[in-house]
Amino acid sequence: MNPPLAHCARWCLVLAVGLFGLAVGGCNETGFTVPGLNQGYKPEQPIPYSHKQHAGDLKIDCKYCHFGSEQSPRAGIPPVNVCMNCHKLSKPDSPYIKKLKEAYDTGKSFEWVRVHKLPDFVWFDHSRHVNRGVACQTCHGPVQEMVEMYQYSSLAMGWCVNCHREYNKNPPAGLKDKIQASTDCYSCHH
Ligand code: HEC
Ligand code: HEC
Ligand code: HEC
Ligand code: HEC
Ligand code: HEC
Repeated sequence: MNPPLAHCARWCLVLAVGLFGLAVGGCNETGFTVPGLNQGYKPEQPIPYSHKQHAGDLKIDCKYCHFGSEQSPRAGIPPVNVCMNCHKLSKPDSPYIKKLKEAYDTGKSFEWVRVHKLPDFVWFDHSRHVNRGVACQTCHGPVQEMVEMYQYSSLAMGWCVNCHREYNKNPPAGLKDKIQASTDCYSCHH
């Protein structure tokens, strides 16, 4: 495809998905919900892992487990060997830790239920935010107090765009370069 056509194809996609979104949005009144794009969404996890216990009481740094958040678009869910760094010794008799150990011993990945999920036509990059000093909690809420993880923010387009405008107007003090959080459609839809 030549570039103008490719450009059009992408836009038609965004618009088509938009119309679909409106149609689905209309169904919300009847109880139908879009998976993952629900504020407050709190799926049950295979074992009761607590952020309050680990990030709050034990004060383990978010980035110790979510080590992708500084270098890449995805923050990432830690592989079970990160857990076993401590749990080989800590609470080995807990039925939950036994489940973790089983995955660890068999080399299988442990299947957590995903909480946050933007639609595929939206581009989001953790590193772009984290490296500009936006705290995890600004978007994810008081995670260190959450016994069960839930979606704190709406993740709606207005939420993203309003914050970009706000940061451009009132950048946090102490940054070397000016904040330029784009509000061009293309930055988030490409
Ligand atoms: C000891 C490891 C560990 C630490 C420390 C940790 N997390 Fe997590 N985090 C996990 C695991 C495991 C999951 C998946 C299970 C769940 O959602 O509860 C998760 C899930 C999440 C999710 C939801 C992911 C999704 O499915 O959408 C967010 C957001 C998150 N963590 C943010 C944080 C923040 C912010 C901190 C620091 C305040 C933090 N985490 C500290 C292990 C950790
Ligand atoms: C830095 C050490 C450390 C890491 C890393 C760590 N934990 Fe823990 N975890 C602990 C400690 C300490 C406790 C509390 C033990 C106690 O109550 O005495 C605990 C408690 C737990 C419990 C509660 C067990 C029970 O039956 O009471 C679960 C479940 C758990 N952790 C899961 C995980 C998972 C999943 C990961 C990896 C994503 C992880 N932990 C990573 C230190 C750690
Ligand atoms: C500017 C807002 C924002 C900030 C700051 C932010 N997140 Fe996120 N986070 C999101 C959004 C939006 C998603 C959903 C992304 C998707 O579905 O593609 C997400 C998803 C996640 C996920 C699950 C999917 C993934 O990317 O692996 C984890 C885990 C997570 N965030 C952890 C963190 C941690 C830890 C920090 C701080 C180091 C952090 N986030 C900072 C907005 C943010
Ligand atoms: C809490 C405020 C905040 C929220 C909420 C937020 N952002 Fe950002 N965003 C920023 C800041 C600050 C930057 C960094 C701008 C810079 O580097 O100067 C940024 C940068 C970006 C960039 C890189 C822009 C570029 O010019 O390349 C993208 C893409 C982006 N954000 C997408 C999103 C999306 C999608 C969402 C919602 C799901 C979102 N952001 C929510 C504050 C936010
Ligand atoms: C800072 C990031 C960001 C920017 C800039 C942005 N969008 Fe979005 N957009 C999103 C996110 C996140 C969603 C998905 C959540 C939602 O539907 O609210 C979305 C959803 C959409 C949808 C689907 C609507 C629906 O109801 O499902 C359309 C259409 C759209 N955007 C068009 C645009 C256009 C046109 C522009 C430029 C004027 C634009 N976007 C700029 C983040 C952004």
